[in-house]
Amino acid sequence: MTKAQAFLVKGVNAPFKLADVELDEPLENEVLVKITACGLCHTDFLIPAGIFPSPYPCTVGHEGSGTVLSVGSAVKSVQKGDSVLLSFAHCGECGYCKEGKVAACKEFYERNFGRVRNPSAGARPVGKIVGDGTEVHGTFFGQSSLASHCLVVESSVVKVPSSTDLSLFAPFGCGLQSGAGAVLNLFQPKRDETIVIFGLGAVGFGAFWAAVHLGIKTIVVVDLLQSRLSLASSQGATHTFLGSSASLVADIHAATGGMGAHYAVECTGVARVLRSAWEAVRNGGKVCSVGNPGPGVAPPFDINDQVNTSKSWCGLVEGDSNPPEFIPRLMKLHANGEFPVETISKVYPVAEFDKAVEDMKKGEVIKPIISFV
Ligand SMILES: NC(=O)c1ccc[n+]([C@@H]2O[C@H](COP(=O)([O-])OP(=O)(O)OC[C@H]3O[C@@H](n4cnc5c(N)ncnc54)[C@H](O)[C@@H]3O)[C@@H](O)[C@H]2O)c1
Ligand SMILES: [Zn+2]
Ligand SMILES: [Zn+2]
Repeated sequence: MTKAQAFLVKGVNAPFKLADVELDEPLENEVLVKITACGLCHTDFLIPAGIFPSPYPCTVGHEGSGTVLSVGSAVKSVQKGDSVLLSFAHCGECGYCKEGKVAACKEFYERNFGRVRNPSAGARPVGKIVGDGTEVHGTFFGQSSLASHCLVVESSVVKVPSSTDLSLFAPFGCGLQSGAGAVLNLFQPKRDETIVIFGLGAVGFGAFWAAVHLGIKTIVVVDLLQSRLSLASSQGATHTFLGSSASLVADIHAATGGMGAHYAVECTGVARVLRSAWEAVRNGGKVCSVGNPGPGVAPPFDINDQVNTSKSWCGLVEGDSNPPEFIPRLMKLHANGEFPVETISKVYPVAEFDKAVEDMKKGEVIKPIISFV
């Protein structure tokens, strides 16, 4: 039994509330982690919003970092005292996992949204609220790291050097790798091709920095906030456009040689922005949805148009990355002065959690990071 403080969601539209909980002992495939920090990602808020179904009360948080306190009997990749960054979970057994395509895991949904702790134990609570004994569900993305301590499934753990700045790199576990992977793993554009990125949250900046890293000559970024466009402009964007502009699609065509971009990465999750992305690419161009509006939204274009323009569209989860390889790769880029995550993030103590959420919602901070130490 481990005492922890965790941000609990008690139901749909209920606010996050810090509560004392008692965590179970780790199962054989789990790691008990003392959390240093956890980035806030848009997806965390889809649980209190009821957009993704969840048992309540529950904990979320899926960009955690920290130190291993103890490990279950079957855990091989880390030991007590190791520094870790936390990312998404996968089963390790299915055909996709065996091919190293762990983000395509057959059980991605169950393992990341379904609160599955262990294949034989399935979904089950991770502990109880101190006082009334109500069971608490954790294991969101294999972790639920908006807490002082959490039980993490081994597949979510990425061991990093003990010298790692665990607050700075916590957000590499989801948003940044999801955007970066769309460019580095999926599109792999050539330098003389053109790319447009819609939405400059952490996901969009991940895609943008990846395009800068590849030396793409024309990098167009689109957002509703001038402050984000200005930041991207200072970091290598060649063209910046407001998403509210009536001439947006025409402006992107003009910026990309009159034909439209070779690639578009949609990082807002807004269907009408996906429509603009579709119109912004040239014939034969490719559009990727990283932004996710949640279940029940159809793509805003028709098959006839798709066939006659030879355009293609796909979705992508977690950048098709294998976190133990991809996250250290991004950290190396950071060491070379690329992926300047510090320019979009701000660290808040636990006591300022509500302010962090408010600043994120107002668009004042792109990536709030909650510090538990
Ligand atoms: N596919 C994945 O694996 C994955 C991983 C993480 C996040 N996501 C999803 O990616 C999306 C982005 O996540 P985030 O954390 O970067 O979110 P965010 O809210 O921080 O960023 C979204 C950005 O889009 C901009 N925007 C909103 N409407 C716009 C419009 N009409 N035109 C132009 N820009 C507009 C906002 O100003 C903001 O800068 C969310 O839908 C999230 O759920 C997907
Ligand atoms: Zn799998
Ligand atoms: Zn996320």
